[in-house]
Formats: sequence, structure tokens, C-alpha cells
Amino acid sequence: MRKLTVEDVEVAGKRVFVRVDFNVPMDADRNITDDRRIAAAVPTIEYLIQRGARVILASHLGRPKGKFHPGSTMDPVADRLSALLGRPVRKLPDCVGPEVEAAVAAMSPGDVVLLENVRFHKEEEANDGEFARSLALLADMFVNDAFGAAHRAHASTEGIAHYIPGVAGFLMRKEIETMGRALADPARPFVAILGGAKVSDKIGVIDNLLTRVDALLIGGGMAFTFLKAQGHEVGKSLVDEERLGYAGEAMSRAREKGVRFELPTDIVAAERFEADSPRRVVAVDAIPADWMGLDIGPDTARRFAEIVRGAGTVVWNGPMGVFEMEAFAAGTRGLAEAMASSGGVTIVGGGDSAAACEKFGLADMMTHVSTGGGASLEFLEGRILPGVAALGDKEPGVW
Ligand code: 3PG
Repeated sequence: MRKLTVEDVEVAGKRVFVRVDFNVPMDADRNITDDRRIAAAVPTIEYLIQRGARVILASHLGRPKGKFHPGSTMDPVADRLSALLGRPVRKLPDCVGPEVEAAVAAMSPGDVVLLENVRFHKEEEANDGEFARSLALLADMFVNDAFGAAHRAHASTEGIAHYIPGVAGFLMRKEIETMGRALADPARPFVAILGGAKVSDKIGVIDNLLTRVDALLIGGGMAFTFLKAQGHEVGKSLVDEERLGYAGEAMSRAREKGVRFELPTDIVAAERFEADSPRRVVAVDAIPADWMGLDIGPDTARRFAEIVRGAGTVVWNGPMGVFEMEAFAAGTRGLAEAMASSGGVTIVGGGDSAAACEKFGLADMMTHVSTGGGASLEFLEGRILPGVAALGDKEPGVW
């Protein structure tokens, strides 16, 4: 990687501000339901502890919109991190101010504190210079390990690097190196699979991937816009009417570039968007007018799995169906299983596809499951992430 990493700097005895993405899902009682993002930051934290740094962790949690919100405090995260590290992690009452400064000044080498949710201050998302400076005053250097928030130019992800030197943590490096290599120098055939509900969320990714991949497979709700653009009747399935033109144009671009473009040929259709709705497998041109497609069908799943098995590199972002409902989970599960058993490089974009891999117990069998939702999408779009751009350079260039 062209950016400096935590291994390139002296950290012993230093106060190190580590931005992590501990924005983890919780149930109504604030129990953490998926701690992957916390566990993924542990290698950087342990590295710093072992070298006698004073570790000051900072994250956002949810979208409290610049105000204190009791349901968005970092306490459950501090507890879980403490369990993972096997040592106490003190949660401080705020992320700036005299009380925090005093607590940090009292830290010994190897101590770990977790600041309170940075988004309790509206200056965080505004990337306010004074606020970024107050965060920077707590430390001698900045380590960004928050890949999941690196697409945000906020005070704790970007602004702070204007005041103290910034380097990447191990998770940040792994995310960028794995996905960067897949985009720049993939083992071929390079296959991308996109799903999820909305075409509009994936336009940038489709445009970028069409210049790089050998095959592009589309499933999930977004497939119906492409099927309709091909002239199929899709009943009450999700269609983005405004993107029909784009869908047709993307398919002709794929043809011109010799990119294999694959859509579902069969569908699990249902009468209603409900787990126990009547359902049946139909060909794409036989979806009943008042039914909707909620998963790819078994023939499509087999065809996609075969393409995945023959691939050198697979990048997957977006579920193939409504996998949260068991009746419509088979397509997504089949794809995740095909990737898990593939001998190629397998990369899962964050968000729903990562959640699906966790749910099916297959996450550990992938080459890489990104911790970034929006961030991994922007990375796959080929965009420069501000939280990475702000870090110090080892060589010219970003990745
Ligand atoms: C995420 O969950 O994708 C990141 O933590 C970023 O959160 P945000 O979309 O609220 O900025």
C-alpha cells in the first residue's frame, strides 16, 4: 500500500488516536448482534498495546445527528471490546473537553480508553476545523482503522489528519490491499455479482466494474429493472422505471466490451412480500401479473454457482433475494456456498452481503468480507475515500 501504516512509525509511549468503525448492529435491549467490526480492529489495538502506546479509540455509533442520545452511547461497545481484548477498556464521558483531556493525561503505556460517540457533536459530520483540532490535541498521532467510515470526510476520519500525522491501521490496510488488488490486477476470469434492491445504488459500481470484469451477474431486486429493459413482464416486482434507459445502455456497453452479462432466467415469485406468502418458481417471462419476484430461481442459482466456481476472482455485493425470510433465502445461500467452496479469490462487499455470509456461517471461508457497507461500494466505484487520502504517503498515490 502506498500509504504509511502503523508499522512505519514509532508508537512506543505515544498517545495514539485510533479511529475505528464500531458502528455495530444492536437489538432493542442494546445487545450487540454482530461484533465483526469490533473484532476486526483488535489486531491494530493489540499491536499498539504490546508496543506500549496509549490507545485512544474513537467511533461513531448510529446517526444521533449532533446531539446526545442515550440509545447511542458507546458503553455496550466498550464492554464487548474489553471482553475481546481480555483487559479493561474505560469508556470516557465525551470525546473532547477538559475531563477527557485529564483522563488521557493520566493514561499509562498500554492503557486503552474509548471516547464517547463522536457524532454527539454536530461538528463531527461538519468536519469542523476547531473540533478536529480538539480531537487531535488528545494525541501525538492518528491511526485510521475505520474502513467502514473512510468514505466520510468527517472530523475524526479526515479533519484530524490536518493536525497530527495519520497512518493506516491493519484492518484499513487489509481492506484496501485486498479489494485494490482485485480491481487492479485480478486473477481471471474476474466475475462480479451484484444484487440488492436498488439499481440507483449500484450505478457507479456497474460503470466501474464493466471496464474491469469478464462477467457481471445481476440478481436481487435490481435484476427486474434489467429484465424489464429487455422486454420481460415482471408483474409487481421492484422496477426502477427511471433507470430502465440506464439498464439497457449498460447491457449494450457490456456487449461492446465483450463482458458476459448474466440475468436470472427463473425466479421465486410470491403473491405478497411476506414470509408465508404463496410462492412458486417461474421462468422470468411467466411472472403472474399480480405477483412479485423475491429470489432468483434454482436454475439461475446453479448457473451463477457454476460461473463462480470457474472464476479466478469473485467480488459480490448485494443479496440475490429477500434472504432475511427463509422462503426467499436459497438464491443468496447458494451463491455464498459457491463462493465459500471456490478455489479463487472471494471478496464480499460489506452491508447486507456480509450479514448474509454471517447468517449462513460462511464468512470465515471467504478470502475477505469487507467491514464497509457504503465504503466498500464507493471503493468498488473507483472513488478515492477521503479518510484514506488524508493519511501520510509512503509513495505518491493513494492505494
Ligand atoms: C456504516 O455503517 O456503513 C458506517 O459505519 C458509516 O455509517 P454512516 O452511513 O452513518 O456514515
